[in-house]
Amino acid sequence: MDRILVTGGAGFIGANFVQSSVRRLPHQRITVLDALTYAGDRRNLSPVADDIEFVEGDVADPELVDRLVKQSDTVVHFAAESHVDNSIGDPAPFIRTNVVGTFNLLEAVRRYDVRLHHISTDEVFGALSLDTDTRFTEETRYDPSSPYSATKASSDHLVRAWTRSYGIAATISNCANNYGPYQHVEKLIPRHITSVLTGIRPKVYGAGANVREWTHVDDHNAAVQLILQNGRLGDTYLIGSGQERSNKQVTETILRLLHQPPDAYDLVPDRPGHDLRYATNSHKLRTDLGWTPQYDDFESGLANTITWYRENRSWWQTAKLTTEARYAANPPPANS
Ligand code: NAD
Ligand code: TYD
Repeated sequence: MDRILVTGGAGFIGANFVQSSVRRLPHQRITVLDALTYAGDRRNLSPVADDIEFVEGDVADPELVDRLVKQSDTVVHFAAESHVDNSIGDPAPFIRTNVVGTFNLLEAVRRYDVRLHHISTDEVFGALSLDTDTRFTEETRYDPSSPYSATKASSDHLVRAWTRSYGIAATISNCANNYGPYQHVEKLIPRHITSVLTGIRPKVYGAGANVREWTHVDDHNAAVQLILQNGRLGDTYLIGSGQERSNKQVTETILRLLHQPPDAYDLVPDRPGHDLRYATNSHKLRTDLGWTPQYDDFESGLANTITWYRENRSWWQTAKLTTEARYAANPPPANS
């Protein structure tokens, strides 16, 4: 029987991964390690609570990580502090979880010869300009802008170094922006949806011209499964749907789908160091591993996501209040 350790499995992408793994690969024995920070929620795992083992704990705790890795065949490492705005406000937890936590996992997988898949982001490559159609590839130079992306870049470098120096069995994936059910209301799409549903005008940073490539969480996790099954050890894979939209376009689409006027949002001061555009070339994943995104129509994926947030108000109502209070207490620095 495969024994899989999923770190960060109570968060957005990790919980969707655990739920789909239980459905599709019932022979696996899954242990989730999650610190249940503000971003983790045990309710995200309630549909599969009886099918998994849940351990509340910190990837920065080396003894706990050692014990859990020792009893596993594979580790899928989602746990991270994941929000750029928070990292600008207070980078310390990002260093601890994203860098020290990944280091602890690497040392443990090295000790016990356990397979590791490290989940990362295309933000490690920095920003593309708006006036080209250049896209990130597996060979793009690392150039992170935010404390978040710098700590994710650090963790990627650690994984690569442990692969080359110690020969650990690891792969890395760098995915574009995700959306879908269970995403924390601090992030753009759920923040806007829940704002409209509670009578708050969405806030768009700067002029709203920044572009993101939106990939449905199920497509991200399908790619991770393919890499676990057939990925080449030591390799990196970029994951992205190709669906690029400016923040203004995303905002207007959400407003339209929720039957609001297209200009019912506010432009607010920009995020410092705000990356202009992210876009990936996922040719390698598509040709080598046969990945094709199922959500190739962003608007219909967005409509499904809106339905999920409409139907799951009790899931986000409390987090909405605390998140908006946190945003109000930490506006972007005045020099931005
Ligand atoms: P999330 O913030 O929703 O979830 C993170 C989870 O990690 C939470 O359950 C949290 O409790 C847990 N966690 C945080 N610190 C921990 C610690 N010290 N020990 C154990 N658990 C801890 O994040 P997400 O959006 O699901 O992202 C998951 C991974 O995917 C991250 O590594 C992120 O960098 C990467 N990623 C995210 C996106 C995106 O658009 N959300 C895109 C590409 C890559
Ligand atoms: P976010 O969801 O925080 O993801 P990331 O910064 O990792 O790409 O933000 C996505 C884009 O939306 C980014 O360009 C910042 C912008 N944004 C807004 O304009 N308003 C908001 O309220 C938020 C949360 C983000």
